[in-house]
Amino acid sequence: MTCCLMSIITVLAYILVPISIFKIFLKLTTGWDRSPTCLVGKTAIITGANSGIGFYTAQDFAKRGARVILACRNRQKAEEAKFKIIEATGNPNVVVRIVDLSSLASVRAFAKEINETETRLDILVNNAGLGGMEHQLTADGLSLIMQSNHFGPFLLTHLLTELLKKCAPSRVVNVSSKAADYGKLDLNNLNGPPDSYFTKSRDYANTKLCNILFTAELARRLKGSGVETYVIQPGLVKTEILQHLPLINRLAVQALASITHKNGEEGAQTSIYASVSKDVIGKSGEYFGECKKWRMPSAAKNKELARKLWEKSEELVQLTHQERQLLQ
Ligand SMILES: NC(=O)c1ccc[n+]([C@@H]2O[C@H](COP(=O)([O-])OP(=O)(O)OC[C@H]3O[C@@H](n4cnc5c(N)ncnc54)[C@H](OP(=O)(O)O)[C@@H]3O)[C@@H](O)[C@H]2O)c1
Repeated sequence: MTCCLMSIITVLAYILVPISIFKIFLKLTTGWDRSPTCLVGKTAIITGANSGIGFYTAQDFAKRGARVILACRNRQKAEEAKFKIIEATGNPNVVVRIVDLSSLASVRAFAKEINETETRLDILVNNAGLGGMEHQLTADGLSLIMQSNHFGPFLLTHLLTELLKKCAPSRVVNVSSKAADYGKLDLNNLNGPPDSYFTKSRDYANTKLCNILFTAELARRLKGSGVETYVIQPGLVKTEILQHLPLINRLAVQALASITHKNGEEGAQTSIYASVSKDVIGKSGEYFGECKKWRMPSAAKNKELARKLWEKSEELVQLTHQERQLLQ
C-alpha cells in the first residue's frame, strides 16, 4: 500500500514539477505594461473586443478613462463584454458598434457610422482575428481568413485615417503573431488555398505576415502625419482563437494551453504597451513582443513585398481613387 502511494507521488512529482517550473518561467518572461498613461478625453476602437486579448485591451483602456468602442460582429457577446468592463472599471463610456471584418460592406458601414458620430479617434487596435478553419471564400470572393485578418483591417484603417489624422498624435496597433515567421506569401494567390500540406497553419501564418508588412507600409505612408503605427505579437495565449478546430483537436490544444499559454490579461500587455506607452513614440512601423522590440520575420523586412501587398490589397478591397489618395 505504502509502496503504491509512493509510486503515485513519484509519478505526480515527475509531471507537476516540470509544469510548475514552466509556469514560473512563463510568468517571469511575460512582459507587463507599466505605463501610467491616462486616457481621459481619448477615444479608442478595439476590434474583436468581446473576448480574449481584445477584451482585456478594452478593459485596460476603460480603466484609464477612455471612451471605448467595442467593435464586434456579435451584438450579444459584445453587450456582455461591455457590461463586464463597465462593472470592473466603473467607466460607463463603453459602447458597442457592430462590424464584420469578413464583409467589405460591413466594414464600410461601420467606418461611416464612426466618421459621422465620433468627434475623435486616438487609438485603433486591429485585434480581431481567426484561425484554424478550412479554406473558404466570403461573399466578396476573398479568402475568409485573409479577409478577416488582413483585408478587413486594411480597409477599416484606410476609412478611419482622416479621423486619426485629425486627432494626431494618434496610433494604429496591429495584432500579428509569431506564426508570421512561417508565412510564405504568393501575391498572385492571396485568396486561394496555400500550396502546402499544412494548409490551415500556413493560411493563418500568411495573414499574420500581412499584418507586419501592412504596418511597415502604413508607417511609411503616414510619415509626418502624427499618426504612428505598430505591430505586435502577444505570445501564446489561452483564448477562443481555435474554436473552429474539430472537437478532439480543440480539447487537446485547450488542455495543453492551460499549461503552456498566458491568460488573456497577460496576452493583452503588448497591445496595451504599443497603444499607450511613451517608449514607442518615434518607432512607427516597428514590431513588439513582451513589451519590447521583437525580431521581425525576415520576409516581413521586404519593403518591395510590403508595397506590392498594399497595392494588391487596395485593388481587392475595391478602394476608390479618392480613398487611395488618403494614404498615398
Ligand atoms: N491566442 C493566441 O495565442 C494568439 C497568438 C498570436 C496572435 N493572436 C492574435 O490575437 C488576436 C486576438 O485573438 P484572441 O487570441 O484573443 O482570440 P479570440 O478570443 O477568438 O478573439 C478574437 C476576436 O476576433 C473576433 N473576430 C473574428 N473574426 C471576426 C470578424 N470577421 N469580424 C469581427 N470580429 C471578428 C472574434 O469575434 P467572435 O467572438 O464573434 O468570434 C473575437 O472577438 C488575433 O488577431 C490573433 O490572430 C492570438
